[in-house]
Amino acid sequence: MTDKYAVIGNPVAHSKSPLIHKMFAEQTGQDISYEKIEAPLDGFAATIERLRKDGYKGCNVTVPFKFEAFNIATELSKRAQAAKAVNTLKFDNEKIIGDNTDGAGLVHDIECNIEMPLKGKRVLLMGAGGAAYGVLVPLSQRGAGLAIVNRTIANAWEMIKPCDASQLISIYDYSQLVPLPNSIRFNIIINATSTGLTDEMPPLPSGIFAPGALAYDMMYGRETPFMKFARAQGAQVADGLGMLVEQAAEAFYIWRGVRPDTAPVIAALRA
Ligand code: ATR
Repeated sequence: MTDKYAVIGNPVAHSKSPLIHKMFAEQTGQDISYEKIEAPLDGFAATIERLRKDGYKGCNVTVPFKFEAFNIATELSKRAQAAKAVNTLKFDNEKIIGDNTDGAGLVHDIECNIEMPLKGKRVLLMGAGGAAYGVLVPLSQRGAGLAIVNRTIANAWEMIKPCDASQLISIYDYSQLVPLPNSIRFNIIINATSTGLTDEMPPLPSGIFAPGALAYDMMYGRETPFMKFARAQGAQVADGLGMLVEQAAEAFYIWRGVRPDTAPVIAALRA
């Protein structure tokens, strides 16, 4: 029997997840179906109930339901607890197991696809909203020197609470990034703000990238002002398409116990 999965969001029409999971299933020979479901804004819990009754095995959750998914889960992984958000649910009889694969997806994309190990790098994470929460803990565990910059500094302090106290994480507001001595320029800057959606540029100063630095925008599908800025500053630029595929691969692994090969899927989506 075909096992049923879905992605739930609102809106969800744009989601590439069905295409990604179809490619994973073909590649690994797994017999699954995967569809998009737009839940009413006040109907997430009812949608989950319906899926469970209909025998679905799990689902991905996207905007704006990741926090509701966190609340609905009867068991949470450590990384979901830290993220305060769930993007992957697995239905196991009475249990609803919540996980968050976004951070693992980001780390995997940077280290394995872009081939830039995080260990020993100076990494700046921009933002302290939902997208940043999702990746903070996995990112903080890779041996990088991590700094966070956010417009509202109190949000950044709140966000780092679940981090291990032994990890020294610096917190900045944007004004503190100027002037930046050579010794503290960043090897990797990750944009987890919502500025790509509004075509704004976070107020980063020039000269913030170390030589050979990577600028990573968690957005995909368009060139954001941050990407343009980074290119002009001589940085290598990556969008969030690799992260999208990697977080899906991690979800597929949670459900199926099989890890798909992401490279051909990323290449197909780019093409
Ligand atoms: P998301 O779920 O996409 O992360 P969010 O939770 O609303 O959305 O968070 C948006 C993030 O982008 C926040 O960190 C926000 O900064 P504040 O915490 O100060 O609000 C950041 N952000 C939004 N617009 C920005 C801008 N113009 N410059 C810098 N940061 C911005």
